[in-house]
Amino acid sequence: MSNDLEDLFAKNREWAAKVTKEDPEFFSTLSKQQKPEYLWIGCADSRVPANQIVDLLPGEVFVHRNIANVVVHTDLNCLSVIQFAVDVLKVKHIMVVGHYGCGGIKAAMGTEEHGMIDNWLRHIKDVYRLHRDELDAISDMHTRFDRMCELNVVEQVANVCQSSIVQNAWRTGQELHVHGWCYSIDNGHITDLKRTVSSAEECAQQMLNM
Ligand code: CO
Repeated sequence: MSNDLEDLFAKNREWAAKVTKEDPEFFSTLSKQQKPEYLWIGCADSRVPANQIVDLLPGEVFVHRNIANVVVHTDLNCLSVIQFAVDVLKVKHIMVVGHYGCGGIKAAMGTEEHGMIDNWLRHIKDVYRLHRDELDAISDMHTRFDRMCELNVVEQVANVCQSSIVQNAWRTGQELHVHGWCYSIDNGHITDLKRTVSSAEECAQQMLNM
């Protein structure tokens, strides 16, 4: 094995020893089951690590990340994560977490070609198209970019809510709240975009207002 990554193994052993020292049962308890209350759908950006930002331990948050936190109706990977989280783990909260300064959003707002990923970015371009009037009315490009990061979250919250998985959970009376958040890389703070949806009725109402 190459020695290049020795540092990481050393850090790993130190971390495991520290956690075990604080709670000798930590790993043995976790190895038996996970019972997270949250599903985090976030951007793959290395500066937006789910557990650290909300200071949660392993076992406390189920995580799905992709470029620009997009929830595509036919993405089997994302849908499988949502289904497992909702049907098996019975999470109570799903948070779609975007972030200001998102490279995926920025790329989608431009006209440059980036190769295969352009097909993924199309989903974000669709968000722009849906909100073109509001976005084009913002003359400051930085403010427009920030707003686009927020609107992408709003649209992905809608996609989560409209999935058959979430609709069925609500239909059977399961408690489930879907939230839209935006994280600031500049100061580490999360903003709640106040788009929480907790029932099929609320979902239908919100969609009308969008
Ligand atoms: Co990003």
